[in-house]
Amino acid sequence: MYLKVILYDWGEIFNVRQEQGCPGIVDPLSICYHQIMNILIIGGAGYIGSHVAREFLDAGHRVTVFDNFSSGLRQNLFAEAAFIHGDIQDYTALGRAARGGFDAIVHLAAAKAAGESMLKPEKYSANNISGTINILNAAAEAGIKNIIFSSSAAVYGEPVYLPIDENHPCNPENYYGFTKLEIERILGWYDKLKGMHFAALRYFNAAGYDVKGRISGLEQNPANLIPVIMEAACGLRPELQIFGSDYDTPDGTCIRDYVHVSDLARGHAAALDYISKNGKSLSVNLGSETGLSVLEMVEAARKISGKPIPAKIVGRRPGDPAKLTASSKLAHELLGWTAEYSGLESLIETTWDAYRKHFGK
Ligand SMILES: NC(=O)c1ccc[n+]([C@@H]2O[C@H](COP(=O)([O-])OP(=O)(O)OC[C@H]3O[C@@H](n4cnc5c(N)ncnc54)[C@H](O)[C@@H]3O)[C@@H](O)[C@H]2O)c1
Repeated sequence: MYLKVILYDWGEIFNVRQEQGCPGIVDPLSICYHQIMNILIIGGAGYIGSHVAREFLDAGHRVTVFDNFSSGLRQNLFAEAAFIHGDIQDYTALGRAARGGFDAIVHLAAAKAAGESMLKPEKYSANNISGTINILNAAAEAGIKNIIFSSSAAVYGEPVYLPIDENHPCNPENYYGFTKLEIERILGWYDKLKGMHFAALRYFNAAGYDVKGRISGLEQNPANLIPVIMEAACGLRPELQIFGSDYDTPDGTCIRDYVHVSDLARGHAAALDYISKNGKSLSVNLGSETGLSVLEMVEAARKISGKPIPAKIVGRRPGDPAKLTASSKLAHELLGWTAEYSGLESLIETTWDAYRKHFGK
C-alpha cells in the first residue's frame, strides 16, 4: 500500500477530497491521505463486479479483474484495470493470479439463480463453495488478509420480522442461499485461524446501472424484476407477468428492497476501508430500507420510458413473501454507508438508459 498523494496531481487530489467529503485543499500538509490498494476483483466483469471495479478505479486503487466470462462480459472491463481470464475452480490459475501482491480480494464470482440452485446443486457446490474455498486458500498462501465477499439476503430465508437486520435468523430457503451462508461461516473460521479479515455484504435486490452511464454491458439472462420490465419495454418479450395482486400490501403486489448497484459499489469501498483499518470482520446488510412494489416499478417504468409495457396479473409464485425490506442500520453505524441512489426514479432511469442505448430505443 502507498499513499495517493504520490500518484495524483493537485487537481486530482482535490477531486478525491471532494468525493471523500474532505474540505477543498488550502494547505497541502492537511491533505486527506488515502491508501492506494492493489485489489483483485474476482467476477469483476459481471453486473455488480464491473460497478465495483469502476468504484475502486475512481478512488485511485490498482485493480485486476479475474473472470471466466461465464456470465460476465468483455465490454465490462476497463482499460485502466488489468485482466486475468481464469476460473476459480482452477486452483493453479487462481494461485498464480493471487501472487500479484494484492492487499485485498473482492469476490463476486458465483452462480446466482436461486431456482436453478434447487435443480443443479452440484453446480452451486462446485462454483460457489469449492470455488470460494480455492480463493481463500490461494489468498492464505499469498498472504492476502482482506476479503470482501458478495453474500446475499437469501441467507435469511422467509422473513420472521421486518425490516430484516443482521440478527434475523438465517434459514435459507434455497441452495443458493445456503452456499452464501456456508461461505460466511467458512470466512469466520479463516478469520480465526488465518487472521483473514472479511466483510460479507448481504445485498438485497441489486438494480440500476452506473449513475454516470459508464457501464454498457447488460446483465446476462436476468430474472430480476427491473430488467424483465425493461425487456418488455424494449419489445423483447410480449408482456410482463406480475405474480399475484392479492398480497397484503397497499396495491396487492409484492414489495422488495431494491438497492442501486452504484450504492453497492460504494458499500464495497466502505467495507474494505473498515476491515483494513480496524482489522475486524463483519457480515452486513446492504439494502435501501425502502420497499417498492411491483406495480410501482411498472408505473414508473412506463412513465420514464414512455413505453406502454403490457403487463398481465398471473397466480402467485410459491414461496414469495408479501414484503421483504432490509435494515441497513449496521452499515450506517460501522461503514458510514447509506443508499444514495436507490430511489425509484434513479433505479428505473439508469436501467432504462442502459437498455435504451443497448437496443437503440
Ligand atoms: N444481482 C443481485 O441482485 C445479487 C443479490 C445478492 C447477491 N448477489 C451476488 O453478487 C455477486 C455478483 O452478482 P452479479 O449480479 O454481478 O452476477 P453476474 O453473473 O453478473 O457476475 C458474476 C461474475 O462472476 C463470473 N464468474 C462466475 N463463475 C466464475 C468462475 N468459476 N470463475 C471466474 N469467474 C466466474 C462471471 O463471469 C461474472 O462476471 C454474486 O456472487 C451474486 O451471488 C447478487
